[in-house]
Order: sequence, then structure tokens, then C-alpha cells
Amino acid sequence: MLQVKGLSARHGSIQVLRRVTFHVAEGEIVSLIGANGAGKSTLLRTLSGVHRASEGDIIFRNTSIGQMPPERIVRLGLVQVPEARQLFPNLTVLENLELGGYIYGRKHVEEHLGEMFELFPVLADRRRQKAGTLSGGEQQMLSIARALMARPRLLILDEPSMGLAPLVVEEIYRTVQSLQQKGTTILLVEQNAMGALTIAERAYVLETGRIVLSGNAAELMEHDDVQRAYLGRDYQYKWEKK
Ligand SMILES: Nc1ncnc2c1ncn2[C@@H]1O[C@H](COP(=O)(O)OP(=O)(O)OP(=O)(O)O)[C@@H](O)[C@H]1O
Ligand SMILES: [Mg+2]
Repeated sequence: MLQVKGLSARHGSIQVLRRVTFHVAEGEIVSLIGANGAGKSTLLRTLSGVHRASEGDIIFRNTSIGQMPPERIVRLGLVQVPEARQLFPNLTVLENLELGGYIYGRKHVEEHLGEMFELFPVLADRRRQKAGTLSGGEQQMLSIARALMARPRLLILDEPSMGLAPLVVEEIYRTVQSLQQKGTTILLVEQNAMGALTIAERAYVLETGRIVLSGNAAELMEHDDVQRAYLGRDYQYKWEKK
């Protein structure tokens, strides 16, 4: 589904990504773990065409997308749930969802709103409420639902667990798994290594712009470096895979 080959990116004179290579196969949940400043969001923004790579290739569904404008990338099915939700706080839940699907037109929006409210009943109850007044967990759900309105084949989530209580994180991850079961491929980017490694099949570790480890998620969870760097100081929370 997605093949990233030797991707580098800079912010001004600073090189943030260094020849990053990884892939996501159709149907997988793949996690990318990295600490603050590792370059996770820069990588995702590069995949979405918002930031331009300085070298390397991005192949999505057999098409090179490295030079494509963001809207075309979304139309191909690569859709991101951005860091920190990035909702329109003064617009209602409904209006935020409508914006997520606008590129496919009004009819599409009307057809798919119902599915979103089924998936997230709490949003249905609050459809006329301004997004900025939702709780953190509700805002994350709205941000995911807004992305789903754009019909992703590959849904990319940038730290969806950030700032949320363990039970809410669990609910978000359950939703992610149910989306996978319904056929959406997932790239989950997290600092929360425990949660992300629990729901993924495979994972990569990004450190200062480089992929330093990769492999089976369960095996990575046992890896000394991962234990030391990401799990030792993780909050006391184990998420049971169902
Ligand atoms: N717009 C920008 N201009 C200049 N430097 C930037 C910009 N965005 C990010 N950077 C720098 O690039 C590096 C990687 O940032 P990035 O946001 O990609 O990391 P991250 O892994 O997403 O971190 P976090 O977990 O804190 O979200 C950091 O050193 C950051 O200061
Ligand atoms: Mg980030």
C-alpha cells in the first residue's frame, strides 16, 4: 500500500529525516514509535504532501506521490488524523465532519454522516455542539471521524493517545482495530509505545530522523532498547489485546 524509500527532509538548514525507508502492506496496522522531536510529524506531513522531501520516494498504491499536491494524495486514499486533532473549534461537530468529506461533494457527505454517528454515538448526540467544547477524547473521535469522511484506504494517525486518559486511549485503539477489520490499513504514530506496539502487527522506531529498529511488534516490545527508551517511563497502563 505504502512504500517509503530513502526519504529525507529538512526544516531550513536542519536535516530532520535521514533516508527513512519503511512500508505498510494492505490490511496491516503498522506503528511508528518515536520520542519528542524524532521527526514523526515531519514524516507524516511529507507523506501527505504538505512538506516536501529533499530526497527519496513515496509510492502509494503503485503511484509515486512525492510531487503530488495534498488534495490529490487524499483522493488516492492517504488520509491523516493530524497531531493535536486540529479541528475547527468554532464550527459544530457536523460542520467539521462535512469539511472532512467536502472533496467528494454534498451527496457523499450525506451518505456517510450516518456511518460516523454509528461508529461514534457520542458525536451524534453532540452534532450541534461546537468542536472546541468537546472533551479531549470526543475531539479525538471527531478528528478520526473527519478523516474517515475522506474515505481513507490508508489512515495515518499522529499521536492519537496524546493527553488522553488510559480508558479513552483504549477506546480509540479499539476503534482503530475495528477500522482495520473493516478493511482500512493503518499507520499509527505514537510516543505511547506500549499501546501502539500492542495493537500493531509490525513496528518501526524512529530516532532523530532515522529508523533504528524495525520488526514484529510483539518482539520489539521485548527488545532491550525499546524497553529502556520507551517502556520504562511509560505510564502504568497495559492494554489487553482483544
Ligand atoms: N516548521 C518547522 N520549522 C522548523 N523546524 C521544525 C518545524 N517543524 C518541526 N521542526 C523541527 O523538526 C524536528 C522534528 O519535529 P517533529 O515535529 O517532526 O517531531 P515529532 O517526532 O513529531 O515530535 P513530537 O512527538 O513532539 O510531536 C524538531 O527538531 C523540530 O524542532
Ligand atoms: Mg509530532
